[in-house]
Amino acid sequence: MFEPPYPPYDPKDKSGYETVVKRWPVILTGIIDTIYRIDHHLGVSLETSDATSEDVTKGQEKIAEGKGIIEKIGKLKYEMARDRPLEPIPDDGEAFIDVYNAELKRLEQDKNHTWFTAPWLFAECYLYRLLRSYFCQTTHWCTFDPFSFQKEETFRSSGKAIYQLAKMMHELQVDKQELIGDSEKLGVLFKEMIQMCLWGNATDLSLLTHLSHDDIAHLQTVGKEAQQARKEFILKDDQDNVWSHLTSLQDNDVTVDFVLDNAGFELFTDFVFADFLVTYTPHVSRVVFHPKLIPWFVSDVTPADFSSTIPNLLSDTFFPPPKPVGGTETPGVDEVKALPPSRPEEHEYLRNMVTRWQSYIDSGVFSLSVPLDTPLGAPNSKADFWTSSRPYWDLKEKAPLVFNGLSKSGLVIFKGDLNYRKLTGDIKWPVSTPFETAIDNCTGPLAGSFPILSLRTNKADVVVGISQEIADKLDVAGEKWRVNGKYALVSFVPRT
Ligand code: F6P
Ligand code: MG
Repeated sequence: MFEPPYPPYDPKDKSGYETVVKRWPVILTGIIDTIYRIDHHLGVSLETSDATSEDVTKGQEKIAEGKGIIEKIGKLKYEMARDRPLEPIPDDGEAFIDVYNAELKRLEQDKNHTWFTAPWLFAECYLYRLLRSYFCQTTHWCTFDPFSFQKEETFRSSGKAIYQLAKMMHELQVDKQELIGDSEKLGVLFKEMIQMCLWGNATDLSLLTHLSHDDIAHLQTVGKEAQQARKEFILKDDQDNVWSHLTSLQDNDVTVDFVLDNAGFELFTDFVFADFLVTYTPHVSRVVFHPKLIPWFVSDVTPADFSSTIPNLLSDTFFPPPKPVGGTETPGVDEVKALPPSRPEEHEYLRNMVTRWQSYIDSGVFSLSVPLDTPLGAPNSKADFWTSSRPYWDLKEKAPLVFNGLSKSGLVIFKGDLNYRKLTGDIKWPVSTPFETAIDNCTGPLAGSFPILSLRTNKADVVVGISQEIADKLDVAGEKWRVNGKYALVSFVPRT
């Protein structure tokens, strides 16, 4: 086993501490509320509807199981707040029981096995795996994603930015012939696309536990000016290198892989970027998307989220109609005024674009790394690895199938903060450590195995690939630049 050269971040560090004390309890309470509401509605409907006795039995079983899960989560919250040891993952028949429990044993020997002493990355992955065990050991909640309502609701409130991006793609479609032959213009557009996809990562439900939908709409502001204004917040910027890499690909059968992060708006931006790559550049023929197989860090994409995205976008009723101009909800008024007037056309632009995506899925140009109808928790060696607690420098050894698949890729795009933490092992690297050194834990063999692009807005402490001077300046200015989601890193390592 590799001995990391620096210690991991843990909850003794400020952001880890805030996560254990504030963020996780809010997330756990949210799950309790969700189950409670479902149980309550079910109870009412069993009393009032003409349910058969079989329905009533099943319904009552489900309510009782729901109560059982609520109890377990309540206990977990209690233990977390009191810094109790992390319990072993029960034998629930799903992935990585041994991996998590062996690591727990190792941590116990070092007396680092409680909520405030365990490495932050490990404890956070463990939390979602433990939650999964509560659901998968039941009959009626086994395929239930406790975050699905939240994911969908936030997606619904992203309509404004989604229509804007659909309009932008429509404008590209109009100029398609001209664009395809103009490598310089494509290079400029490529960077806009990268940035759109990068900032799409700013919307993350596990982080934004305290924001309103209007705040989220603000974060999703798209368009040239918004991008330009955010440019200075990209602390490491390898965009030019990625474009040079893509244009150098001679093979006419190039695949790009997206190791996905969040569902909803972020996944929408991933689709837009993927669409741009295959529709407008001559460099990419296929895109493979890699989801998570269990509910993960609240907002991450599961196969069900992936599959429902296109039908949701095609539904006429998915996005709520805009609020009336001059209405009483003051915070929304400016947003509404900013809406382009041509709603019906925009609807059409969105429909055209999304219909193209569907055709790409039908023809295999876009695909998911696992079958689209994969139920939660179904083991699949092509995707399990993403919900282990392992750093990605273990990929070759622990998930050879995934590693070999990615080795053939023209570009592997790792989306978001958690993927970045796992790429770098979430250890206390000095900020000036080169990205390629950090992702290999100095020992290999990840950097150079395939071209890697990480698009990450900073939500957790680990940062590499920037100068100490920049870090010092931001620290002196009192910026929470490592964690506030305002700063970002575009990090690229080519194949060697
Ligand atoms: O900081 C909050 C947090 O939950 C981190 O623990 C985690 O790395 C991140 O948010 C998830 O962000 P993303 O969805 O970008 O991976
Ligand atoms: Mg996420």
